[in-house]
Amino acid sequence: MNYTLSTGPLADTKADCLVLAVPEKSALPASTQQVDTLLGGLISQLRDSGDITGKLEATLLIPLSGQPWQRLLLVGSGEDEKRKGAEYRKLVAAAINRLKDSPAGHALLALSDSPVSLNGDQAGVNWKLEMLGRTLEEQLYRFSAYKSEQPPAFKLETIRVQADDAENEKALERGLATGRGMNLTRDLGNMPPNICNPVWLAEQAVELGKRYPHIQTEILDEDQMRALGMNTLLSVSAGSAQPARLIIMQYRGGKQDDKPHVLVGKGITFDTGGISLKPGEGMDEMKYDMGGAASVFGAMQTIAELQPALNIVAVIAAAENMPSGTATRPGDIVTSMSGQTVEILNTDAEGRLVLCDALTYVKRFDPATVVDLATLTGACIIALGHQATGLFSNDDELANRLLTSGEKACDRAWRLPIWDEYQQQLDSNFADMQNIGGRPAGSITAACFLSRFTKDYRWAHLDIAGTAWTSGKSKGATGRPVPLLIDYLLSHGN
Ligand code: BES
Ligand code: MN
Ligand code: ZN
Repeated sequence: MNYTLSTGPLADTKADCLVLAVPEKSALPASTQQVDTLLGGLISQLRDSGDITGKLEATLLIPLSGQPWQRLLLVGSGEDEKRKGAEYRKLVAAAINRLKDSPAGHALLALSDSPVSLNGDQAGVNWKLEMLGRTLEEQLYRFSAYKSEQPPAFKLETIRVQADDAENEKALERGLATGRGMNLTRDLGNMPPNICNPVWLAEQAVELGKRYPHIQTEILDEDQMRALGMNTLLSVSAGSAQPARLIIMQYRGGKQDDKPHVLVGKGITFDTGGISLKPGEGMDEMKYDMGGAASVFGAMQTIAELQPALNIVAVIAAAENMPSGTATRPGDIVTSMSGQTVEILNTDAEGRLVLCDALTYVKRFDPATVVDLATLTGACIIALGHQATGLFSNDDELANRLLTSGEKACDRAWRLPIWDEYQQQLDSNFADMQNIGGRPAGSITAACFLSRFTKDYRWAHLDIAGTAWTSGKSKGATGRPVPLLIDYLLSHGN
């Protein structure tokens, strides 16, 4: 898709289709009002007659003649008082989905002048353009790599986005780059696990490094990890024919001595549970257990496109969790890279085992902050459902920054505690700790396990088990929490 920002008067901008927002009762937004006047009150008449109700997501496509636009697409934008970020996203999604089915090749979108309230404040034009760009990219996504018959190409080729000022271009670009990053995350997640294994994931990082010269990639194989003492990570890949990889990507856009922000992703390319085998139903969805890694990839691509003045390091712990004669047994004790010993009572609690060594490894970067991302616990879905990502942190300022970014990006997280009182659930009779904490507070004890390896730096953990993908008929990766991450990273400078 071709995107351009259009700042000239609407009446002078030709298009196959002009897209405007129509609210239920409130006054028409400026651009809609302007076109209404030009068309002799047509839009207000259609609203009065009930042909367009203005209800959120309702659409009406009208052919025009003798105008710079061959068609008008009116999109219901609901009530001004009720329009928040999520409603704005629905409005944009309804517009692009209606456009997809229309014959228009060139669309002109004037959708950035409806009021949107964000946490009580009014969203600015830049927020709207960013959200618009991202939502367009999200809605145009499809994954058809493994279909014999490819869907026909979109007739829509060009989208011009109406704005007042050329200065708004950056906001639109930021949104588009975020959407493209999300779509990379979705592509990686949706890949079948017979292709997307740790070595393949590492190759994708090498490719990213080739595509974006600002990204430097380094890959560690199992021998190199063994030499570093990463035995908890290696205990997870022990049962698999696919060797593990540690993937390191560095983006250096800041000053030489600026401490980097570090992202760590759980990259279990398939989680059978290992010897503690999972039940069969829905097990295919455990191909998404590399969702943390995939979101790190997406965020790094967006960062490489936007080139902020920051230093960012990404580390992905990639492994496959399989049962076999060489697999780790429940009861095995391994020594982590940190020197702490772990009694593995359940081989299905493998995410924390790969992450703890990766979290020890990243100390060498002297990080400003470390954020890990992981589809870590089913319990997180029980606690927060599919709406919010679970957030855990040893630092209030970092936690609040992530919460704020999630709000702003419509990609919310919710904080849960990691109080000392929970730590005792990890006590082991035979080692420094065990890898499971029992049924109560399963997401919290998983985070408590990680917290034992992150004492030396400011750290947050995002449990994306409920948010990284959707199940059922519309099964697919969501691209979350790339928007949260991008807002968070850029909040340190851009
Ligand atoms: N990858 C799973 C967590 C998961 C399960 C995410 C379902 C999304 C949907 C993780 O490795 C796991 O198996 N966790 C166990 C931990 C338990 C054994 C302590 C779980 O959540 O059941
Ligand atoms: Mn598991
Ligand atoms: Zn897992």
